[in-house]
Amino acid sequence: PRYSRIAGTGSYLPPNRVTNAALAERLAADGIETSNAWIVERTGIESRHFAEPDVACSDLAVLAAQQALAAADCDPDSLDLIIVATSTPDMVFPSSACIVQRKLGIHGCAAFDVQAVCAGFVYALSVADSMIKSGVASKALVIGSEVFSRLLDFSDRTTCVLFGDGAGAVVLEASDTPGILATELHADGRYVDILCVPGHVSGGNVLGDPLLKMDGPAVFKLAVGVLEEVARAVLEKAGRAASDIDWLIPHQANIRIMQSTAKKLKLAPERLVVTVDHHGNTSAASIPLALDEAVRAGKVRRGDTVMLEGVGGGFTWGAALLDY
Ligand code: ACO
Repeated sequence: PRYSRIAGTGSYLPPNRVTNAALAERLAADGIETSNAWIVERTGIESRHFAEPDVACSDLAVLAAQQALAAADCDPDSLDLIIVATSTPDMVFPSSACIVQRKLGIHGCAAFDVQAVCAGFVYALSVADSMIKSGVASKALVIGSEVFSRLLDFSDRTTCVLFGDGAGAVVLEASDTPGILATELHADGRYVDILCVPGHVSGGNVLGDPLLKMDGPAVFKLAVGVLEEVARAVLEKAGRAASDIDWLIPHQANIRIMQSTAKKLKLAPERLVVTVDHHGNTSAASIPLALDEAVRAGKVRRGDTVMLEGVGGGFTWGAALLDY
């Protein structure tokens, strides 16, 4: 049988780190009140990174990708697939994946974007895994990259304090041994309205509202339920038990959602990889960013069993269980 495995990881955060105090000060200038204490207590976020206005999704993506390629000892020319998970692409088209391909100085391999918001990386990884297993590809670059700061409504304190920018990447390659053990993907379009950026481009204008709208409590409630469900489903598919999980790397949206999932799976708190405190919610980038940080910190080691879980607008959700 043919499997896929992660050969290397990488990530990149734009240098501008914005603390809660700095953000509160910026909002206060517009008469909007928030505080470090409120943000930390409700979300676990202490700081996030914001990209400069002239920095695009593909700029962050390519820096994360180069690190992953180096870690995997992979020549970019040997890639036969690039997938970028993003909801904040450089252009309406072509895809950010094509722009990344050009910036890597290569051409010819398949390249496309996957749009599943905060579940985007799990979706992209699952697609790459399927393409490798079926023999369509052998060496894939899978990236999550976002500049969510572009979509934030800084007059809405209930959303603008939650998100940040960044990118994470993995090189996924064909292997005789797993690797990725199982994946699960789901969506429920009945919940389009609870988390969306409803605007679009038409006739040279932006029609509708191009900024992020969220019903926070509704998202919270749904997220907690589906994350437990999908974790159990992917474990069953892989023939593994929750007690086999060495590391839980959930989408980094909110510490309370993450801790609740860990608790439901009866995992010790130290099995949960947390970066939301210093990354904020970087949407499709959050899982590969957290994975790379955990690998580089010497936490996630070869042979460890890792559960990745994402949930986001759509509503979309999914999980991947893997032996690193
Ligand atoms: N600073 C100070 N006060 C605030 C802020 C803020 N930044 N934001 C909201 N408040 C106020 C509200 O106005 C409200 O005041 P009121 O009681 O006088 O009306 C009060 O705080 C409580 O508001 P709630 O929305 O009920 O607060 P809640 O405890 O639900 O926390 C939060 C809000 C953090 C958004 C929470 O609902 C949540 O985490 N939801 C999940 C959403 C999420 O993580 N989304 C990420 C994207 S989706 C994803 O990635 C899965």
